[in-house]
Amino acid sequence: STMILLLIIAGIGVVTLLVVLFAPHIRRYAAGRKCKSTARLDGKTVLITGANTGIGKETALDLAMRGAQVIMACRDVEKGEEAAASIRAAYSKAQVEVRELDLADSCSIRAFAQKFLREVDRLHILINNAGVMMCPYMKTIDGFEMHIGVNHLGHFLLTYLLIGLLKRSAPARIVVVSSLAHNFGWIRFHDLHSQGSYNSGLAYCQSKLANVLFARELSRRLKGTNVTVNSVHPGTVNSDLTRHSTLMMILFTVFSTFLKTPKEGAQTSVYCAVAEELQSVSGQHFSDCTPAFVAPQGRSVETARRLWDASCEQLGLEWD
Ligand SMILES: NC(=O)c1ccc[n+]([C@@H]2O[C@H](COP(=O)([O-])OP(=O)(O)OC[C@H]3O[C@@H](n4cnc5c(N)ncnc54)[C@H](OP(=O)(O)O)[C@@H]3O)[C@@H](O)[C@H]2O)c1
Repeated sequence: STMILLLIIAGIGVVTLLVVLFAPHIRRYAAGRKCKSTARLDGKTVLITGANTGIGKETALDLAMRGAQVIMACRDVEKGEEAAASIRAAYSKAQVEVRELDLADSCSIRAFAQKFLREVDRLHILINNAGVMMCPYMKTIDGFEMHIGVNHLGHFLLTYLLIGLLKRSAPARIVVVSSLAHNFGWIRFHDLHSQGSYNSGLAYCQSKLANVLFARELSRRLKGTNVTVNSVHPGTVNSDLTRHSTLMMILFTVFSTFLKTPKEGAQTSVYCAVAEELQSVSGQHFSDCTPAFVAPQGRSVETARRLWDASCEQLGLEWD
């Protein structure tokens, strides 16, 4: 048994040595592709949800550096202002502005949209980025389970309220930040809010599948409007997303070399927002700035339609 122990220790030693030796290569591989487009966004208006941290904040910085006026929609205005200040510190000419938006409260979403429509006359890029992952069972103000409520229904309502403005501002683009996790999800139409049984991981996967289905169905409905919508998997990114799961937090910290930084994670969102070659591409899914695989349950036209109707019903909307 001493022999086995020595072998295990030696094994760990060799693996650690290899990781350290190849760290720069591993890092370069983990970083993934960069958005190569140098497209400018002068005179364009961008709205990003959950832009106070992580992928959203880096997306805001990148698009601001391209000359866009960036509106950062955050539920915590103070955190939003700190993020905006750090963006201005990184790029002094950044035109960034923080507005309050809590996607877990339809009153907040409606108030946000009302003020937005009154004060902003164009919207060229909407990035539905905000998200929660693996939180304990919680409900939004409207009584929706938190994952489906914030990640899907909140953004569904926001997009519904802003779609007229997007159409008037065409060409316009919508980017829906989904995840690889959509592969492991399915829509539980009989129990959308996990009242029967709750698993935080599955609830997250369901909401990310809903993101893919929403993007595809919306793109179908937007044909001919010059407003495109695509979904994105940003990669596995070392952000605050793991805040609700100690295990995930530990794993993400230990394996951080293998993960993307938030800046690297923002590349595919930026790509979908600006790349010239995507001007008329809609209803697609991207990862690493390239078209990505969509799970069969994410390609079902029938499920997408059913989710659309269910979402309208949940929110009391008529959107056709
Ligand atoms: N990180 C990854 O590995 C990964 C992988 C696949 C997909 N994604 C997706 O990428 C997106 C961005 O995630 P991230 O990694 O950047 O995570 P993050 O650092 O935790 O950022 C999430 C953002 O969403 C905001 N948010 C949460 N609940 C909200 C609400 N009710 N109303 C408004 N904003 C709310 C957060 O605001 P507060 O700071 O105030 O909470 C924060 O700004 C998410 O949609 C996530 O599902 C991430």
